[in-house]
Amino acid sequence: MKIQNVCCIGAGYVGGPTMAVLALKNPDIKITVVDINKVRIAAWNDSDFNNLPIYEPGLKEVVQEARGRNLFFSTDVEKAIDEAEMIFISVNTPTKTYGKGKGMAADLKYIELSARQIAKVATTDKIVVEKSTLPVRTAQAIKNILDHTGNGVKFQILSNPEFLAEGTAVQDLLNPDRVLIGGEESEDGKEAIEALVNIYATWISREKILTTNVWSSELSKLVANAFLAQRVSSINAISELCEVTGADVSEVSKAIGMDSRIGPKFLQASVGFGGSCFQKDILNLVYIAKSYGLNEVADYWEQVIIMNDHQKNRFAENIVSKLYNTVSGKKITFFGWAFKKDTNDTRESAAIYVADALLDEQAEITVYDPKVSEERIYADLDYLNTRSPEENRRLVKIVNDPYIACQNAHAIAILTEWDEFKEFNWHKIYSSVIKPAFVFDGRKVLDGRTMKQLGFQYTAIGVSIFNSTS
Ligand code: NAD
Ligand code: UDX
Repeated sequence: MKIQNVCCIGAGYVGGPTMAVLALKNPDIKITVVDINKVRIAAWNDSDFNNLPIYEPGLKEVVQEARGRNLFFSTDVEKAIDEAEMIFISVNTPTKTYGKGKGMAADLKYIELSARQIAKVATTDKIVVEKSTLPVRTAQAIKNILDHTGNGVKFQILSNPEFLAEGTAVQDLLNPDRVLIGGEESEDGKEAIEALVNIYATWISREKILTTNVWSSELSKLVANAFLAQRVSSINAISELCEVTGADVSEVSKAIGMDSRIGPKFLQASVGFGGSCFQKDILNLVYIAKSYGLNEVADYWEQVIIMNDHQKNRFAENIVSKLYNTVSGKKITFFGWAFKKDTNDTRESAAIYVADALLDEQAEITVYDPKVSEERIYADLDYLNTRSPEENRRLVKIVNDPYIACQNAHAIAILTEWDEFKEFNWHKIYSSVIKPAFVFDGRKVLDGRTMKQLGFQYTAIGVSIFNSTS
């Protein structure tokens, strides 16, 4: 079966870049990405490619080539569903904030709405592809909705989770470690799988396209994120031990990472992992385990989140204790607000929680981030509901110039590992801050020795305060 028309519901961090690359590599397939968010769609269609709603290195160039050729962004969801033979669902699946499973389970209301809309509109057979990250066995629920439309249309459900990481999305999509496709083992199921394999096979070798049953595919996505996050929490746990023993966590990471059984990736100690996926997906895994009565399994994975919360808290507490146990009325400059470098995404960023803890101590915070907007930062703080929007605006300032951001600061805290921070004129910064000049490096991006030579009281995650050489 040759697919000619694809629709993707959801033009977010996954739907947008994924479909852009799919369109780039399949110029003979018409791909329409739809969203109910008119502002987002307008930004995807903006004549100035610098105004795309998502910042990702290389994305602008891909959209520039494919948009208007075979890639389209639209708010006409029904028309795109009607025309397509294959429909990707790439809507958000956040943690539930109400009712049963509040704070743990994935909220599937957007998935269900998408399924119902497909059921309502479809007049021809469709392959429905789960691109969103979903609890294992969601395909069953989608199938139930679709099979009760009463209009005789046949649906095949595939699971095709996305493994891209933000900041490297385009590279990850162009050159993935693997593509995972789960489907039914029936003849129709195999045909649907093959149709999707053919789309990816235009640029990815077939050995890297793994096909499984639907449940393995759905579960593998949650497990992959849980394993990755577990590595970060594991090294962060060790970072605290390093700080009290005189070991340096970078040296430990290198030493253990050279063991080919462990491997070097995802061993960078930090102020805590953020992003829209890790916490949400682990909570979801914990919820699923609990719902089957597997309490030990649930507790095991929950510990990854507990350690991450601890890491964020202790970073904030360390700032307060080093600043003589009070930050009240003191200016603290944040370098970075995004949850990692090379993205404007701030969802679950450690910076939000560190800021909240410091604001509780009456600190005044000035933020410099090269890609995150002022409105986004205020929205993140307002969402916590810890204090009024007016108070957030009074206590937190956003500045576009890093040198102005530092003037008269009592401390500088590095929350995101943006490369440009290494290139700053730290000598100039030193001269403009209040002394002693404290720097708290939550990402270990700066060279400790140089910082100390410049006169800074420099503290980095995972480095002992007794260790004056690194
Ligand atoms: P997002 O919030 O950036 O985008 C989702 C979009 O779906 C929004 O623009 C929203 O308006 C739209 N939407 C919701 N309901 C809709 C409906 N009924 N009709 C049309 N549009 C609708 O989310 P995201 O980061 O792109 O994540 C999407 C999914 O992919 C999630 O399940 C997430 O877990 C998963 N995922 C995300 C990443 C990542 O790095 N962000 C990576 C892998 C997987
Ligand atoms: C993650 C997964 O990597 C990706 O496969 C999945 O599709 C979506 O979730 P993402 O959240 O975009 O991607 O970024 P990732 O690079 O995984 O980083 C997540 C968080 O962990 C960031 O806050 C990052 O700074 C932190 N991290 C990562 C560390 O603190 N140390 C590390 O060694 C690696």
